[in-house]
Amino acid sequence: MSESYIQELFAERIGGRQYGKSNAIYKFEKIKRAKRAAMAAHPGAEIIDLGVGEPDEMAFPEVVEKLWSEARKPENRGYADNGDSVLKEAAVRYLDWVCGVKGINAETEVLHSIGSKAALSILPATLVNPGDYVLMTTPGYPIFGTHAKHYGGQVHHLALTESNRFLPDLDSIPETVLAKAKVLVINYPNNPTGASATPEFFAKVVEFAHKNRIVVIHDAAYAALVFEDRPLSFLATPGAKAVGLELHSASKSFNMTGWRCGFVAGNELLVRAYGDMKDNMDSGQFLAIQHATAHALAHPEITRAIAAKYSRRMDALVGALRSAGFRANKPKGSFFLYVQAPKAATRRDGVRLEFHTAEDVSQWLITEQLLSTVPWDDVGAYLRFSVTFVARNLSDEDRIVGEISRRLGEVRFEF
Ligand SMILES: Cc1ncc(COP(=O)(O)O)c(C=O)c1O
Repeated sequence: MSESYIQELFAERIGGRQYGKSNAIYKFEKIKRAKRAAMAAHPGAEIIDLGVGEPDEMAFPEVVEKLWSEARKPENRGYADNGDSVLKEAAVRYLDWVCGVKGINAETEVLHSIGSKAALSILPATLVNPGDYVLMTTPGYPIFGTHAKHYGGQVHHLALTESNRFLPDLDSIPETVLAKAKVLVINYPNNPTGASATPEFFAKVVEFAHKNRIVVIHDAAYAALVFEDRPLSFLATPGAKAVGLELHSASKSFNMTGWRCGFVAGNELLVRAYGDMKDNMDSGQFLAIQHATAHALAHPEITRAIAAKYSRRMDALVGALRSAGFRANKPKGSFFLYVQAPKAATRRDGVRLEFHTAEDVSQWLITEQLLSTVPWDDVGAYLRFSVTFVARNLSDEDRIVGEISRRLGEVRFEF
């Protein structure tokens, strides 16, 4: 069959004429395939999934009830556009109660998002011209950078290393990049490293932004999932509102990934530009979902209960990994445990395997130990273990961590 003329029409940003022809298999697809192969090779065996990047449980019943009652109201049925005041006002109260951020104007400084991913894909359209630089941390969540490149922007990667406590070194940016840099995107607690920011780091970011006339986007998707202290908002930093925005999401903090709701808060001009662009890209999240999210935001004890669960699981997982020789340190928040990947493993039968990348280790862990993790080879070789594995109850949770420990204990790792 001759090739469709449509093949000739694809935009260069998705590969142009070559779109869809690459045989490259991406990381998450490789993990899926390895899981399928492991299940086929060991029918009925339990694969423990420590790779999932979303909560294992559903939203709390009262939030589901609120959605149910709001969905029945005729006045909520239509296009929501940029939303009504319910979620905006709830967001302002949430920022105050939960993060200690005062003085956000509900009318002009907050707007809902259909999840932070959507906001991160809209915002580049408001800021990035061809040739502009965007400063992104690596490893990290790439969405803003991907869209910035679609608009002709360039991405400068700031490595997150253990020696810098996974905070970017802002002094490392070359002058030539700084001259063209418009946006710095940061995310704390961080995916995948689990690292948290500090007030001192955020203060440095504000100073850096002022000095270099740069907009800061703080992706706070995991901000409320902390194991000690109160959540740290970038907006609580003096001067932050003059330089940037913070993106909050109900996805992880309230077990609402599929609901697609969050909010953008901070600088009035940036919020307005986001709203103008958003208006041309979507018609707003269903008001019933926005109102149920507002209800969730008024109940931060939900997030505290979720965080307590992750903290408990994290303690157990850190113990299991340490006893297998991993240098695991409990993060202060998120549900990610990021550990250096081993360089080799020796099985009980004496067979020794060398690993060249974290991906090698991850593939081996799925195939041989039926443990699924996510490898990161961007800056060093690391594995991300997520404590969102499915467990029926507390004793099942103990059993699963015991099982992880037993499986890892079957080999001797070298680091
Ligand atoms: C760092 C980070 N930002 C944003 C998102 C997306 O969040 P949302 O569900 O609000 O779109 C994720 C999801 O995994 C994430 O890890």
